[in-house]
Amino acid sequence: MKRSIYAGRVRENHIGKELTLTGWVGRRRNLGGLIFIDLRDREGLMQLVINPETVSAELLAEVEKLRNEYVIEVTGQVVAREQANPDLTTGQVEMQVTALTILNTAQTTPFEIKDGVEVSDDTRLRYRYLDLRRPEMLANLKLRAKVTQIMRRYLDESDFIDVETPILTKSTPEGARDYLVPSRVNQGQFYALPQSPQITKQLLMNAGFDRYYQIVKCFRDEDLRGDRQPEFTQVDLETSFLSEVEIQDLVEGMIAKVMKETKGIDVSLPFPRMAYDHAMNLYGSDKPDTRFDMLLQDLTDLAKQADFKVFAEAEAVKAIVVKDKADAYSRKDIDKLTEQAKQLGAKGLAWVKLVAGELTGPIAKFLPAIAEQLVADLGLEDNDLVLFVADSLAVANASLGGLRTRIAKEQGLIDESLFNFLWIVDWPMFEWSEEEGRYTSAHHPFTLPTAETAAELEGDLTKVRAVAYDIVLNGYELGGGSLRINQKAMQERMFAALGFSAQEMTEQFGFLLEAMDYGFPPHGGLAIGLDRFVMLLAGEQNIREVIAFPKNNKATDPMTQAPSQVADHQLKELALRVESHD
Ligand code: AMO
Ligand code: AMP
Repeated sequence: MKRSIYAGRVRENHIGKELTLTGWVGRRRNLGGLIFIDLRDREGLMQLVINPETVSAELLAEVEKLRNEYVIEVTGQVVAREQANPDLTTGQVEMQVTALTILNTAQTTPFEIKDGVEVSDDTRLRYRYLDLRRPEMLANLKLRAKVTQIMRRYLDESDFIDVETPILTKSTPEGARDYLVPSRVNQGQFYALPQSPQITKQLLMNAGFDRYYQIVKCFRDEDLRGDRQPEFTQVDLETSFLSEVEIQDLVEGMIAKVMKETKGIDVSLPFPRMAYDHAMNLYGSDKPDTRFDMLLQDLTDLAKQADFKVFAEAEAVKAIVVKDKADAYSRKDIDKLTEQAKQLGAKGLAWVKLVAGELTGPIAKFLPAIAEQLVADLGLEDNDLVLFVADSLAVANASLGGLRTRIAKEQGLIDESLFNFLWIVDWPMFEWSEEEGRYTSAHHPFTLPTAETAAELEGDLTKVRAVAYDIVLNGYELGGGSLRINQKAMQERMFAALGFSAQEMTEQFGFLLEAMDYGFPPHGGLAIGLDRFVMLLAGEQNIREVIAFPKNNKATDPMTQAPSQVADHQLKELALRVESHD
């Protein structure tokens, strides 16, 4: 390859030099008897100029053939531009082409290769290689590479050892379904793809590695969302002999480096710490967005004095106040909010507005006895909208928490320039799963209960607290971690509390329990969701925008058509039969 430099890296210091560039043909214009062509490569756009009067007939013939996205090699002299373009990094210069080779042709692309084009998600994914030619996608993936490089450097310098753990493995419970891989040589048996390297990284601590990290693919068969893919990447780490605060300090140091080197932002350390209960009660979320207020208010006691059955009978009555926006919400708008509250589990959404000093709205008639107190307690002013949910405390928190973030987005209450990191600490060990009718782990079954509450493993499970910590950024769960159980007896009690029989424990986790017989050191760690972190750094709304080849929201890949059916002989080798294709 004769290329002298990336097209996007040509600058004023190249003026007067002859260079050879390669890339893709972008916009082409004829102006004042000259032909201008944008040559694009991964570093940017460079303007080529062809003067039909002075170039050879052969060169002109080649230029006439050019269409968008043709791949070319050009040679020419770099000159100063008559009219500089401040929007381009190469905007001071252009190239007067003297030779041009067409390296390949291209059909008309299904969408234009530029930022901000209107095109469906599936079309973008079907032609992902074209989508990735767009400068913003390229920038996102470069940012991602930069973030991992900064993290690797930091972790290497902090004595972490990068170890690869198996992908064909056994179930690692993180609360999702496993992806299973059938074994040919052991028919009827299946590997599970790791939901995380949780157990293997713990075993590396037992092996004495002391500080491990890995930037690793994890697999979870769960419903997709903007911040969830079936296959995603964790920055996974584990350490021995450290306290939870020491682990958090290490992670904060890493994040601070990334923020400084990618955004030029000095984050202040340490990150604030917020107890789980506090987050749930004030923000209605275990991943609170602290860039705006609109905190949840507890009105349970006051509401009992109102002449309103819905309020009087509920375990909790909570509210949020949308300041100075009553006129922005029509009944229809509030109906939409009610729909969302119901999706989040609430039975309904009650509301009042303060208009000219009076509470108005359908439930205002039930409130005279408490109106004055309500206005005072909530500090209401004219044009405030109050939304109430009366329900169990959990449902009231979750539904108002959801409305809080929706309204903040709708009303532009969020300062998008902020990066609000915080730790959520003092986690409950267990969550009650309505679906399964049993307690499940809030994190995973290897999390260490606090010394104060460990005895409750055989008692009231709701009282058990975990030495766990999540790192939250702008309303997203960025990462989670904990100290781990390293004592066999405790691990067995934990499995038992989660409803495992002795046999199930041995079958699924016998190898871990056995490892605990051999000098397992105290240890703990954390994993950061790399995709989410890069998404937030890039200002994107979906982790797909920072993953080269993601799945769509049906967990399929429109480009390769994965997943797909397999040949009968493959099934036969695996001793599998597909019962139905629906
Ligand atoms: P956890 O399950 O919290 O912890 O996962 C850690 C982080 O991974 C990210 N994440 C995801 N990102 C994209 N798509 C998904 N489907 C997805 N699921 C999770 C989140 C999350 O915070 N083994 C523990 C960590 C530990 O205890 O050390 C674990 O996996 O950002
Ligand atoms: P009802 O008396 O059931 O017609 O409800 C009166 C108003 O209260 C309606 O606007 C309902 O949406 C609302 N509402 C009903 N149940 C609840 C609840 N659990 N919490 C808050 N508002 C509710």
